[in-house]
Amino acid sequence: MKALILAGGSGTRLRPLTHTASKQLVPIANKPILFYGLEAIAECGIHEVGVVVGHTALEVQAAVGDGSEFGLQVTYLSQDAPRGLAHAVLIAREFLGDDDFVMYLGDNFLVGGIAEIVEGFATREASTAAGILLARVPDPRKFGVAEVSPDGTVLRLVEKPDIPPSDLALVGVYLFDRRIHDAVSQIAPSARGELEITDAISHLISMGYGVKSSMVDGYWKDLGDPEALLDGNRIALMAIRSSIMGEVVDSKVEGLVRIEAGARIVDSIVRGPAVIGRDVSLQSSYVGPFSAIGDRCTITSSEIVNSIILSDSQVDNVGSLEGSVIGKFAMIGHRTERPRATKLVVGDHARVELL
Ligand code: TTP
Repeated sequence: MKALILAGGSGTRLRPLTHTASKQLVPIANKPILFYGLEAIAECGIHEVGVVVGHTALEVQAAVGDGSEFGLQVTYLSQDAPRGLAHAVLIAREFLGDDDFVMYLGDNFLVGGIAEIVEGFATREASTAAGILLARVPDPRKFGVAEVSPDGTVLRLVEKPDIPPSDLALVGVYLFDRRIHDAVSQIAPSARGELEITDAISHLISMGYGVKSSMVDGYWKDLGDPEALLDGNRIALMAIRSSIMGEVVDSKVEGLVRIEAGARIVDSIVRGPAVIGRDVSLQSSYVGPFSAIGDRCTITSSEIVNSIILSDSQVDNVGSLEGSVIGKFAMIGHRTERPRATKLVVGDHARVELL
């Protein structure tokens, strides 16, 4: 069994963060989303992993390296443009050979791992060519949607339907055997110009092969937009281990909190679940529940709750920030000189909500 993890794509819904950075490397609880997927793959005993990369290839390679830190052996597979999930399988043909594989979307966050479904697929009936994971969602129109029989056999799949046949959305983890290669070579690009994995799976069904589904029983989210990212961050923070490696001076630290080495918390309150990265300086501030402060940030005279701040940013005297996602090397401050107007230097596709 091999794994194919998709870390290309364009990440338009996470702009402006993804103008300059890979969506899969955006952190939740200060750890890149992609690393949770790599850990889940390693946990189920898979070693050989193909990582599909696009225009952010260098950044992904710098973060993941040869995979040995995860106990994996990583091969990078370059995709010239985001031509669809089935296209990623197409370009991985040589790497995958005739092996069974799990395909994992690099921006998906799944609590509870994938060991059980991977094991289940290994002991499937010979006629079963694929396995998918499903979750019930309130608005299935944004997802690939499945219609299944009572025993979990997939009858039909539709991509982002206007009228969904069910509320069962496809989760970004798929299991395939070699029969998928023929299917991905038979399909044509969809109306949005992508080779859709749902079309390739539908092709398997039309050839008479079995496609089995299982329901996700833990938390799952596609962390493709800021709200989902904050939600995933909250879940990831609830699973951290408390540890204080930094320095805490005249401050209160309450609840589930990790403070990394080199961080200095002075005259402040940190109320978990929260993580404070390496070499962070927190002065006269409050970091409240569900906040992740990246390495080397400087926070002074401010309150931050339910937010993600990526590394090397500064927040100074801004009152209270809530539900915010702030990129790397950002500066958010309080203007003291006149005119007392709001002054912004904001990147493309940014979202600012002023009081
Ligand atoms: P999506 O979230 O469907 O697509 P996207 O990354 O282009 O994002 P957006 O909709 O915001 O523009 O992709 C799911 C995952 O698969 C994600 O981790 C990116 C990856 N991917 C590839 O590696 N190659 C591809 O051709 C596509 C479409 C996605």
